[in-house]
Amino acid sequence: MYRDPVQSLQPLHGVPVAMRPLRVGMIGIGTVGSGTFRVLARNQAEIAGRAGRGIEVVMVAARNLQRAAGIVGDGVVLTDDPMHVATHPDVDVLVEVAGGTGPARDWVLAAIAHGKHVVTANKALLAEHGGEIFAAARQHGVAVAYEGAVAVSIPIVKALREGLTANRIEWVAGIINGTTNFILSKMRDEGLDFAAALAQAQALGYAEADPAFDIEGIDAAHKLTLLAANAFGSPVRFADVQVEGITSLQGVDVACAEQLGYRIKLLGVACRREEGVELRVQPALVPAAHLMAHVNGAMNAVMVKGDASGVTMYYGAGAGSEQTASAVIADLVDMARLDGTHAAQRVPHLGFHAHAMNELPVLSRAAVRTSHYLRVPVHAGSDIKSVAAVLAVQQVPVQQLVLAAERSGAKPQVLVLTGPAAQSAIDLAVHALQAHPAVNGAVTTLRVEELAS
Ligand SMILES: NC(=O)c1ccc[n+]([C@@H]2O[C@H](COP(=O)([O-])OP(=O)(O)OC[C@H]3O[C@@H](n4cnc5c(N)ncnc54)[C@H](OP(=O)(O)O)[C@@H]3O)[C@@H](O)[C@H]2O)c1
Repeated sequence: MYRDPVQSLQPLHGVPVAMRPLRVGMIGIGTVGSGTFRVLARNQAEIAGRAGRGIEVVMVAARNLQRAAGIVGDGVVLTDDPMHVATHPDVDVLVEVAGGTGPARDWVLAAIAHGKHVVTANKALLAEHGGEIFAAARQHGVAVAYEGAVAVSIPIVKALREGLTANRIEWVAGIINGTTNFILSKMRDEGLDFAAALAQAQALGYAEADPAFDIEGIDAAHKLTLLAANAFGSPVRFADVQVEGITSLQGVDVACAEQLGYRIKLLGVACRREEGVELRVQPALVPAAHLMAHVNGAMNAVMVKGDASGVTMYYGAGAGSEQTASAVIADLVDMARLDGTHAAQRVPHLGFHAHAMNELPVLSRAAVRTSHYLRVPVHAGSDIKSVAAVLAVQQVPVQQLVLAAERSGAKPQVLVLTGPAAQSAIDLAVHALQAHPAVNGAVTTLRVEELAS
């Protein structure tokens, strides 16, 4: 049942709710939490002006209270009990920036049950438990905001919800993991193989000691899940995302893509088709002349195609203390403003769409249709047209077929760019190629994304 949050707040010294500061309780004061605290303090006057009222952190939960005290100073209640913050009557909004998916789920659900709005940067939490969390928020008439969870310094959630709200979104595609983009940039620029590029990323602090979430595409899939739910008004469907990371990407393919006029990027793609939606994270070739190919290092970029707006593109830092704080505080300013608004009058958030595509299925891998890159090792002296003949039998259209530039000691390789073909046709073609006498090793395939219209 809807409860007006204004009514649910405690009166503070007789000051009308909408005039007094928004009281924030924060769980976790690490990279994002300390950045949020710092930027809120530094830009206090501007933020209060834009929010129409002050925003004050009144309570913080931390494991190391001494360290937390050094960050927040006097005047903020410190506790080592996150649930105390989540449920305390002096807290209007819970900011969850501790991470993880177990206890964080309990804290967020408890805060919602106590009529508090929630701001979080925790993509893993929302990708895995978003359905339950957003349903609870709807039931209790509060909002859950998560701009910091996706491509942090790019206000993409707001762009989708507000700036592009007139559109039927056709597709969203993005470089939404900085670590893998850094590694791919190193592989291209310095000719490194994957392991060497990963080691550099770790040495420079761009990759965690355990980089599995990033390099296996999981982190990008978490973010894609949230982007897709926003773009299409569909439920959060992390389990349905086809996820492929960059761990098996070879340096030779980075070089061969370059020869064909493409660069390899780890893309998250959510695309609306007649028959359903495609949700996939995979390394893909993008044209070297495309802006997306020039998003290098740890930067992020997201493209959105709306039926009215056409293609739009957004670029910015995908991680960082104050970069994420920028997004968290933008959500807090929203909270400060909507605190006095009836839930039904707010610009809807995830899963609130009246005409959601909830019924549309997520397409299987076999049904996904894109152009492809194939690298086919062949015996010296083979007729490269035999490769084209195999593809023709499987009805895979060929747009370009060339011999790879010679590299010392390397086998001859035929490079193919296909036209659009279903993955099932490509799989059959690869199977047939592997059995062909001209072929001399494993065939490699990658998707090609033109990212045009
Ligand atoms: N860093 C970024 O650039 C970035 C960007 C976008 C989103 N995010 C997301 O933001 C969230 C926080 O990331 P972060 O980089 O700030 O992590 P972090 O630096 O590790 O900070 C997390 C903080 O939460 C504290 N914490 C964890 N469990 C706690 C508990 N049970 N009680 C009290 N405190 C607890 C940790 O304390 P200890 O130090 O004692 O462990 C730590 O201080 C994550 O969900 C992450 O995915 C981060």
